[in-house]
Order: sequence, then C-alpha cells, then structure tokens
Amino acid sequence: MAGSIVVVGLENVEKIKNSDDSIINQPLSVVEALQLKHTMNSRQQALPYQTAVIRTDMTRAIGSFIPEVLDETRLSMSEAFAPKAGERSATVPLFHTMTHLIARVSNRAMLGTTLCRNETFLHDIIRFAETVVLYAELLAWFPKILRSPIYFLISSKYGGPREPTKAIIPHLKALIAEKEQGLESSKTIANFLLNHAPPEEIANPELLAMRILNVNFGSIHTSSIFGSHVLFHLATLSEAELDDIRHEIIEALESEGGYNKASLSKMRKLDSTLREVGRFYALSPLGLNRVLLKPTVLEDGTVIPPGYHIAVSLRGLHFDPNVYPEPDKFDCFRFSKLRETEESDAKHRFTTVEKNFAPFGLGRHACPGRFFASMELKIMLAHMLLNYDVSLPDGAKEAPKVMRLNTAVMPDVKACLVITPRVGQMQDL
Ligand code: HEM
Repeated sequence: MAGSIVVVGLENVEKIKNSDDSIINQPLSVVEALQLKHTMNSRQQALPYQTAVIRTDMTRAIGSFIPEVLDETRLSMSEAFAPKAGERSATVPLFHTMTHLIARVSNRAMLGTTLCRNETFLHDIIRFAETVVLYAELLAWFPKILRSPIYFLISSKYGGPREPTKAIIPHLKALIAEKEQGLESSKTIANFLLNHAPPEEIANPELLAMRILNVNFGSIHTSSIFGSHVLFHLATLSEAELDDIRHEIIEALESEGGYNKASLSKMRKLDSTLREVGRFYALSPLGLNRVLLKPTVLEDGTVIPPGYHIAVSLRGLHFDPNVYPEPDKFDCFRFSKLRETEESDAKHRFTTVEKNFAPFGLGRHACPGRFFASMELKIMLAHMLLNYDVSLPDGAKEAPKVMRLNTAVMPDVKACLVITPRVGQMQDL
C-alpha cells in the first residue's frame, strides 16, 4: 500500500547482506516503512543510539534481567490465566493476551516494576505500538508536508505518543535526578539509554521518552507474534510430546540451578519451536528490505536505479527443500533433532542467523534485540508449559490460519487458547 517493492532473486542475498548503507541502505527502509520522522521524530534516524544500546549494554545485561523477567512472568500469568470462579480453565484470545504479557514483562526490564504494572500505561504503549504501522501506511499516501499534522490529528484521537509519554517522562526525570546526585541507580534499559543520551535529550526528557517508545515498538509486536505462533503449535502436540518438552525444561533447570543463561540454552526443544516459527512464518514473506541509494547491478546484470525499494522472498529462503526437507510441514522438533546429531550446537539456535534463516535479517543490521527476545520468550513459554496445560478450543487439531495484512503475517487475532492450571504435576522450581 505504501509503494512498490522490487523482489530481487535469492542469489542477491550475499550482496544485500554485505553492502554498505551508502549503496543499499537499511535504515531508510525502516524510516519510510514506519514514517519515523512523523510517528516518532527525525532524531531516531539521525542519531540511532538506541540500537547501539540494545546491541551492547542491554544484551550484556541479559543474565541480570532473567530473575526479573521470571518474576513478572509468574505474576502476570497468574492474573491473565486465572479461570473464572467455578471453572477449571481460562479461554483467552491468545494474541491480545500475549501482547499484554510481553508489554508488561518487557517493560519490567525497560522501566521497572511500577510502570510495568500500570495498566493505563500498558494500554497506551500497546496502542502506540499497534497504530504506528497502520498510520505509517496511511501517511505515505499524503504529501510530505502534510504528514506530521495528519499524524498529530489522527493519533491524538487514538494511539500516538502523547498518552504513554505522560507516564514515562516523570519516571525519566526521577532517573535523571538520581543520576545527577550520583545515587546508585537500578539497571533498567531506561538507565542504559540515559547513560548514552546526548545532553539535549537529558535536558528534554520528552525526546528521551521517544527512545523508550521506539524500543517498545521494536519489541512488543515481534515477540507477541512469535510467542502466539509457538503456543498455537504447541497446543497441537500430543501429551507425550509436550511432556518431553517439559522434561527437558525440568532437567535444564535442575542441572543448572534454576532459570539462568545456561539452563535456557539447554531448552533445545523450545528453542527449536521458536526457530521453526521464524522459518515458517517470520514477520512477513519478504525480508531484507532496503532502499537503493546508488544504481545497483544485480547478480543477473539487471540494473536498478536509486530510489527503489528492494526485498527478498523469505519464503524462497525458508522453504528450499534442499535445505529444509518437507518444508511445508511445521515441525516443532526440526532443529532440536539437528542439534542432537550435529557437532555444532550453535548452528541451529533460534538466534543464529544465516543465509537460509533470516527472520531477524542478516549482516550488520540483523536484529540486535533477538537475544533479549529469545530469553524472554523461553522463560515465558517454559513457565507456561510447566504450570499450565494448553489446548485449542473445541478439540481443534490444527493451529488457526494466520492473518495477512499488507506484507505482514500474524496469528489470527481472534483465535483463542484454552489454558488450564496444572495442579500437583511438574512445575517450576
Ligand atoms: C521475535 C522477535 C523479533 C523479531 C522477529 C525481530 C525482527 C527484526 C527484523 C526483521 C529486523 C530488520 C533486520 C534487517 O533489516 O536486516 C529487526 C531490526 C531491529 N530490531 Fe528486531 N525483532 C525482534 C525483537 C526485537 C526486540 C525485542 C528489540 C528490542 C529490544 C528489537 C530491536 C530491533 C532494532 C533496534 C532493530 C534495527 C537494527 C538496525 O537498524 O541495525 N527487536 N528486527
């Protein structure tokens, strides 16, 4: 809807992966797809330090986020999955429930306990994240000069940054004051951003709040889409297969002394299901979206002039029968089986990107948040499997059909999951 994309042949993947942004540019494709200048501000592109913070401080701190992510997971799931009085199970619209859980758990790491449990804030930040893509599509139809006023008008009625930043700004002001007094500050992602923010953003926390919105945007929908696909597929497995996954989780927790980086890396079956979701669905059938800044010669000699948007078919990469036998079959254990037989355990991990696995992109712009997403999703899914039984309503045996919206693929937002607390069986340590 927002313009045409030239889908180039798969033989160009290496070229795109290795190219410089001065020729085949990645940030501009994000700027245009999200109309970043209007939906957030032009500083996000001019000075993208949030990406560096995610890649460095945030990824290094993953181990220290684990207890907090677990704590928030336990609490939020016990609320979200509590059956109504007199009932054994809760039937929840899965995608909306996952979005709420992910927003809460991620913001525990981003902003701490108070804000992540503030329902008004969660509601506003989810609306912001949900509407950015939709509004960006709409804005692309208008002349550039009208885009900011139009976004202001539509987003002040629904979505938009105003409401969520109302809660974030006072929090940031308190962190800034703490820092100025040299007080020991907590280690949230907001603190990391603060440590890297230029003076003009510290002087104007509204600008800093926009970074928090940006990181929230990057993490909320991506992870809730992946988490929902995983759960819909886990719900199609037999009890014996689910128990196998549970045993592997329990063994990992027992041998490594609870939830930590070592035990998470031993949860190969869960990891495999996440990777299969990345292969089978990704976020879109297209990936490696770029904008050409100079004339570019493709491998077959075709020249594409500057200004064109290009992408590759992820379906082409992820459904190659020479790489993935029976590619049309969704197999939760596809990669854990490979990890059993091959020396290199790292090769088939959810977070390992390579030419035939690109749901996180490839090269220097490959998603820097994927290590955090993997940690968070594995904790949430492991806790859920150990403490709840999951099934599809009315005894359905197949995951619900996905929804396609423009180039996005997502789980059916109306589809439900039946969740029943497991009493007196295998549970979390
Ligand atoms: C399952 C979860 C996720 C998926 C599938 C995903 C997917 C992607 C994809 C496809 C890209 C574009 C890569 C390219 O064009 O080559 C990307 C970039 C990015 N992602 Fe993620 N993402 C996920 C989670 C996250 C999280 C949790 C965060 C933040 C905490 C995050 C932050 C970012 C950022 C900052 C970029 C831009 C990187 C750059 O410009 O160099 N993502 N992600």
